[in-house]
Amino acid sequence: MKAVVYQGPRSLAVEEVPDAKVQGPLDAVIRITTTNICGSDLHMYEGRTAVEEGKVLGHENMGVVEEVGPGVTRIRVGDRVSVPFNIACGTCRNCTGGWTSFCLRVNPIDGMDGAAYGYANMGPYDGGQAELLRVPYADFNLLELPPGTEHENDFTMLSDIFPTGYHGTELAEVGPGDSVAVFGAGPVGLMAAHSAVLRGASRVFVVDKEADRLALAERYDAIAVDFSRGDPVEQIMEATDGVGVDRGVECVGWQAHDPSGQEHPELVLDNLVKVVRTAGSIGVVGVYVPEDPGVDDPSSAGRIGWDYGTFFTKGQRMGTGQAPVKRYNRQLRDLIITGQAKPGLITSHEVGLDQAVDAYDRFDKREEGWTKVLLKPDS
Ligand SMILES: NC(=O)c1ccc[n+]([C@@H]2O[C@H](COP(=O)([O-])OP(=O)(O)OC[C@H]3O[C@@H](n4cnc5c(N)ncnc54)[C@H](O)[C@@H]3O)[C@@H](O)[C@H]2O)c1
Ligand SMILES: [Zn+2]
Ligand SMILES: [Zn+2]
Repeated sequence: MKAVVYQGPRSLAVEEVPDAKVQGPLDAVIRITTTNICGSDLHMYEGRTAVEEGKVLGHENMGVVEEVGPGVTRIRVGDRVSVPFNIACGTCRNCTGGWTSFCLRVNPIDGMDGAAYGYANMGPYDGGQAELLRVPYADFNLLELPPGTEHENDFTMLSDIFPTGYHGTELAEVGPGDSVAVFGAGPVGLMAAHSAVLRGASRVFVVDKEADRLALAERYDAIAVDFSRGDPVEQIMEATDGVGVDRGVECVGWQAHDPSGQEHPELVLDNLVKVVRTAGSIGVVGVYVPEDPGVDDPSSAGRIGWDYGTFFTKGQRMGTGQAPVKRYNRQLRDLIITGQAKPGLITSHEVGLDQAVDAYDRFDKREEGWTKVLLKPDS
């Protein structure tokens, strides 16, 4: 099969690799119809992780079931399915508690709970930027979709970014009438803004400096805040009569930067602490890593100095971590089917696997208009 293979920093190849196969009784193999490039893939692409060469990338997958192992009873060959980026066993303590992102059984790396397809430190699993994908514990992990091709570009956001954005709003405890500040208008931030509106927020601010992304935020009824035009905290404080917002959602991660592009890993955390009111809450779904081979300062070991003192003084709450996709994907699927959720609106490019290398490069440079790239292995 053809697959997108990691060869080193900023070096990918689309190559022939052995077909994904059923390896155990609970596995399924999916023929991929759509697989997305994610902002998280860029951490690997840029050489900011310890991912091994030869890994097939891709954790945002959907397709049609091609084959199932003898122990698979619920999912059938021919089913159209969404594949959560988390790989989970379904029976450990964290899985039964709904925390599939921290499954205790699937990651053989010492000290790491939780696994994913085609991802650094997330277990030995290949990704789905390929023609075929092996899915362990298929009955537990796969979400069934209505047959056919309708809503393909909406459903493809169910594997990661829509549930992840939603999880950011859940961690931030967004409720009806709340005012919300979302930092980052990448795909995850846009999904967080859409989720906040779906949850009944009264006002949603979205902070970024990329005009095309801020324009999409406005299409989800959010208020765009351009941090290249002035301090985003001051802009939001002014718009809220100095009160700040009830909830904050972090959708940027440790590569947060200032308008000149200089990285400051604490910048967005500090801004959230400032802009969220006392006793308010913050959800952090942007990724922070315990190890970054790409820089040479304390943050390379995950040690980031941020304004914990003010966070404490203001009595704020914060939740963080990888999103447990399965907690939300069925409900979000049904909001797509009824037409209330439109996550596919952010799709900017649909290309074949052959064009993946160029697409990674342009998405990584955040070229104007490259918001969300969907790879279609069939095309
Ligand atoms: N927790 C999870 O389960 C999970 C899942 C998927 C992605 N993620 C992470 O979420 C983050 C966002 O993902 P994405 O795909 O949207 O990435 P992205 O890189 O496309 O978007 C990040 C955006 O943040 C903006 N930004 C940079 N500095 C900023 C600042 N100081 N203030 C405001 N905005 C700033 C950038 O301009 C960019 O548009 C990444 O860290 C990604 O790894 C987490
Ligand atoms: Zn992703
Ligand atoms: Zn488990």
